[in-house]
Amino acid sequence: MPDGTWNTRATRIQMRIDELASITDEPGVITRTFLSPGMLQVNKMVAEWMQDAGLTVSEDSVGNVLGEPPGNTDLPIFLLGSHLDTVRNAGRFDGILGVVLGIEVVDYLRTCGVSLPFSLGVAGFSDEEGVRFQNAYIGSKAFCGLITPRDLTMRDRKGVTLRQVLERWKEGRFVIPKARYTRERVAGFLEVHMEQGPVLEHEGLALGVVTAIAGQSRMRLTWMGKASHAGTTPAALRQDALVGAAAFVLGVQEAMVKFPGLVATVGQIFVEPNVSNVVPSRSIHSLDVRHQDDSARNQACTWLEARAREIARERQLQFEWETLQVTNAKKCDATLSRRLTDAMESVTGSTWQLPSGAGHDTVILSRLFPVAMLLVRCRHGLSHHPDEFVALADIAAALEVTVEFLSSWEPA
Ligand code: GLV
Ligand code: MN
Ligand code: MN
Repeated sequence: MPDGTWNTRATRIQMRIDELASITDEPGVITRTFLSPGMLQVNKMVAEWMQDAGLTVSEDSVGNVLGEPPGNTDLPIFLLGSHLDTVRNAGRFDGILGVVLGIEVVDYLRTCGVSLPFSLGVAGFSDEEGVRFQNAYIGSKAFCGLITPRDLTMRDRKGVTLRQVLERWKEGRFVIPKARYTRERVAGFLEVHMEQGPVLEHEGLALGVVTAIAGQSRMRLTWMGKASHAGTTPAALRQDALVGAAAFVLGVQEAMVKFPGLVATVGQIFVEPNVSNVVPSRSIHSLDVRHQDDSARNQACTWLEARAREIARERQLQFEWETLQVTNAKKCDATLSRRLTDAMESVTGSTWQLPSGAGHDTVILSRLFPVAMLLVRCRHGLSHHPDEFVALADIAAALEVTVEFLSSWEPA
């Protein structure tokens, strides 16, 4: 296949990514959260591209969009895909790249008449970031039939439960989603994703194969003090909920020193009454804790909770610690990853393997199917930022490696 073809197809991928970036819930920035108007509009556009690539498209009860080969076949299916939701004020490539590239791969193989020992589908998941419920992976969990009754009770910022969101969307006809495929039906899942870190750029490589994905815990912490007058309440008589949260944030920094390899973040915070001349009565914030080693992450969470209780005691604050999500670290499938590494070597002449610190739908799919991940270099390692950038040549390389990976497939 002449090089020009990969670049032409990579250019189309890039144009489509740009088109999706113009669809947002917040004008001027890219934000699309679970089942938001922007997300549903993106689903329509992606569905059209899937149809143009010859796929039959459906949207499930949680807004996942799925393109499957038409007609009945006894062949197992191999899935490509990633997520279509974004963080707030996001970049344009995170998640989107894997879906749009997947559609291009299907179109390419169909155009060339390549026959594979499986059929090929593409999935676009509706919630990987967990922005709305501070709990990631609603899309891929539903796709795998892993949504629990407890998940349905989680609430967004407005107090609306996941069940209510889904019922309203389906006009009351909502049922707990069942697994879309049985274990036996799926030959594997490959997620192509931007790296979101600086390693590949540093190594001068376009691509890398993921060994394992870090585990993560997400918590919500609530500090309760007492509102009082900012001008008249002496320092010693204050019960300032924000000061408790601030002391804890410094504890989070300490944890990263104490537990090597740990990354922990307080990224979202709300203060009440949020008025300049009132001592804050309540502060609610997120806590995101990650490590490649589950026991180190668990130990760090225990240490952080104890630190929070100590701060609450010292400052006479009430305190609540809620664990919203715990996802253990996941290794990718050894056979698929070896095949992917071979494909990378045969196309680019080099190989590289690395762990992923970011979470991915692959973590959830791995509970049912063999999974692999291909990471694509990004500029300055930047992600979850509007300046996210992946070069055209690197998209072309990822496309070619994915095609090689699929078309060189031989039964294990
Ligand atoms: C998703 O990008 C995550 O790792 O939080
Ligand atoms: Mn992502
Ligand atoms: Mn992300």
